[in-house]
Amino acid sequence: MPNTLFSPLTLGPNTFSNRIAIAPMAQYSAVDGAAGDWHLMHWGSLVTGGAGLVVIEATGVEANGRPTLGDVGIYNDMTESALRQVISAVRGFGAAKLGIQLIHGGRKGSTRVHWDGGGELLPSEGGWQTMAPSAIPYRDGWQVPREMDIADIERVKKAFVDAALRSSRVGFDVIELQAAHGYLLHQFLSPISNKRTDRYGGPLENRMRFALEVFDAVSKSCPASVTLGVRLTGSDWIDGGITTEEAIIFAARLKDLGCHYVDVSSGALDPQRQKISVGRDYQVGFAEAVKHGAGIPVRAVGLITSPTQANDIIVSEKADQIAIARAALVNPRWVWQAAQQMGQKIEYPKPYDRAAPGVWPGWGYDY
Ligand SMILES: Cc1cc2nc3c(=O)[nH]c(=O)nc-3n(C[C@H](O)[C@H](O)[C@H](O)COP(=O)(O)O)c2cc1C
Repeated sequence: MPNTLFSPLTLGPNTFSNRIAIAPMAQYSAVDGAAGDWHLMHWGSLVTGGAGLVVIEATGVEANGRPTLGDVGIYNDMTESALRQVISAVRGFGAAKLGIQLIHGGRKGSTRVHWDGGGELLPSEGGWQTMAPSAIPYRDGWQVPREMDIADIERVKKAFVDAALRSSRVGFDVIELQAAHGYLLHQFLSPISNKRTDRYGGPLENRMRFALEVFDAVSKSCPASVTLGVRLTGSDWIDGGITTEEAIIFAARLKDLGCHYVDVSSGALDPQRQKISVGRDYQVGFAEAVKHGAGIPVRAVGLITSPTQANDIIVSEKADQIAIARAALVNPRWVWQAAQQMGQKIEYPKPYDRAAPGVWPGWGYDY
């Protein structure tokens, strides 16, 4: 029997009730890095929606590792305790396991929240000096990041470990490192943003070193009950950038270090030079190549919108898990409808079980 969208999936120490994950989605609604009421409402609605896994948003490992001042952080006792309060409240209201994505923004830090116009955050607005593997700005005209020295590299590595320990104390089942979308770990991996001449720059082996050291340090510190993953880039979509072949090598090295899965995304390293052709399944080919090339479980993501499309990806073994992001904002009950369409019975939260198919005749009507 082939796997389907609704077969259970085991990744490392955890088993997920189905193959559907909710991808991390920054909400820019934290205050001083602390999750609050918006997150309670938002994560609560996703956790009750039936996905096997909900990965909460990119969460800063340092205050200056947050891309914007509105991002959630997990870098001190206050931010850890705020996150614990919200996660404890939503946990248990659905079958979903809970994941956290850990991030350092590097040169993509100190930016304004998009609904305030986006762009660079000025010092007068609380902006800060960013840092990166090399002193190359994210866009023309943006602040030039400071080139990280070895002390910075060691400090950030420790910040990832401390954040992972705090995350496991909060009770997350899954910890995922953000090594895609042009953030700090990706900046080290890509020859476009990394022009270093020391052991952290140059050939792929050197460019991978920082991300692999961070993963290894996190993996050695986390309890065995935590599933560990990495979101990586399947392509920079730029000549001379990361290729899928390099992504496969990186994923294989992560696997050797005990990584339980990778999520394969792409782009967002260099908005001025990337040439992305966006469309349905546009990143699934990268996921498939990494799955079969590196022999590691993968999650596919990006414009996966319909249950049949998602199921095909699993049945044809292009990926082990799929993630939806925007479709879950449009319809937080996407999974219920997918189950109905595919004739699958799933658990509803008890207070909602009178709306289940077979219980509520209205399931067959337009609404
Ligand atoms: C509101 C919003 C916030 C996002 N925040 C994050 C984030 O915190 N971390 C991340 O890796 N990707 C983030 N993404 C990207 C999504 O995880 C996902 O990869 C992307 O939206 C493609 O999936 P989709 O077509 O199903 O929306 C965000 C996307 C949206 C729409």
